[in-house]
Amino acid sequence: MLDILNLDCLEALARERLEPTAYDYMAGGAADEWTLGENRAAFQRIQLLPRMLRGVADRSLATTVLGTPVSMPVLVPPMGFQGLCHGDAEVATARGTAAEDTIYCASTVSNRSLEQIAAASNAAKWFQLYVYRDREITRDLVARATAAGFRALCLTVDTPLAGHRERDRRNSYRMPAHLELGNFPHAHSTQHHEGAGRGSSLAQYINAQWDPGLTWADVEWLRSIARIPVIVKGVMAPADAVLAIEHGASAVIVSNHGGRQLDTVPAPITVLRDVVRAVGGRAEVLVDGGFRRGTDVLKALALGARAVLVGRPILWGLTLDGADGVRAVLRHLREELDLAMALAGCATVDAATPDLIYSMRGTD
Ligand SMILES: Cc1cc2nc3c(=O)[nH]c(=O)nc-3n(C[C@H](O)[C@H](O)[C@H](O)COP(=O)(O)O)c2cc1C
Repeated sequence: MLDILNLDCLEALARERLEPTAYDYMAGGAADEWTLGENRAAFQRIQLLPRMLRGVADRSLATTVLGTPVSMPVLVPPMGFQGLCHGDAEVATARGTAAEDTIYCASTVSNRSLEQIAAASNAAKWFQLYVYRDREITRDLVARATAAGFRALCLTVDTPLAGHRERDRRNSYRMPAHLELGNFPHAHSTQHHEGAGRGSSLAQYINAQWDPGLTWADVEWLRSIARIPVIVKGVMAPADAVLAIEHGASAVIVSNHGGRQLDTVPAPITVLRDVVRAVGGRAEVLVDGGFRRGTDVLKALALGARAVLVGRPILWGLTLDGADGVRAVLRHLREELDLAMALAGCATVDAATPDLIYSMRGTD
């Protein structure tokens, strides 16, 4: 197993292994990368107020998400193109996540097919959906994901167009020729291999293929064709979280896509409390963006999140040691969260209540 001191050290190790342009694709954000930095910085403005003598000898991190038991409130979000990290790509991520008893959400733009990912483990998994201009493609993905046994569809709503990712544009980023888009015919992969002119071929693909005309009515459309719950990923405004629920979502993920879409938006942890208040218990609220410490996870639980999702560190673990590396990242976060909970006086995740938050400097 990888010996992880902290997740920032892990990133430095993975960076040495990766092609610089692939590292840029994964690590980078949009435009000035202000939001990318803010996703981390926001945690430093939130202080915890621990409670003492609550008896924390027996602790449990277990919870449920949409009724599915998980060993801890840390899930693995959809991230495309994991073949950049390791030969086993998303199959390894699914296996490593299953070994730690939590949920993996497979991306539409995985390098392995959703059927291969589904077969990688018996654990509960979700499928993330991008809606294509050609609705038949989306119908087909929904049918395949349901047939393959995915437990929920995670509709990403923050990507009507590709964010302005300057690193990829500067690098004229292309998917390497040895990789395929596992869910699509070869012609889709060719668009990623070749691109047109300069710039990022991923951005060109997104702008050509994905439907920028989506509205809340399409969430209802998806509900009408899906036999499994729909989760809406990528809301930031409390009003959008409410709309998601009104249009049939079973859960929302507060997310700014890891700072890769609209720059200068706040960190998800900053808006979480307002979203939780607006949702008022009608659905589960999850959150991602910049979670790197056990204390980060504890803060989200105290602010009312059901669970968090941890993105890039999973890619660093995958790069360094495949499924075992993914597992090591999740174990490391489990240890950090367990210690943070003990020191804060929380024997269970339910004990992480709003009074644990001493202040949110600069956000009130
Ligand atoms: C390399 C990379 C690829 C991603 N691909 C997708 C994707 O295919 N679908 C999606 O909904 N989100 C995608 N995301 C966003 C993640 O699901 C998640 O919201 C974000 O990474 C969380 O932030 P963090 O990396 O700081 O933990 C991607 C993120 C990264 C870093």
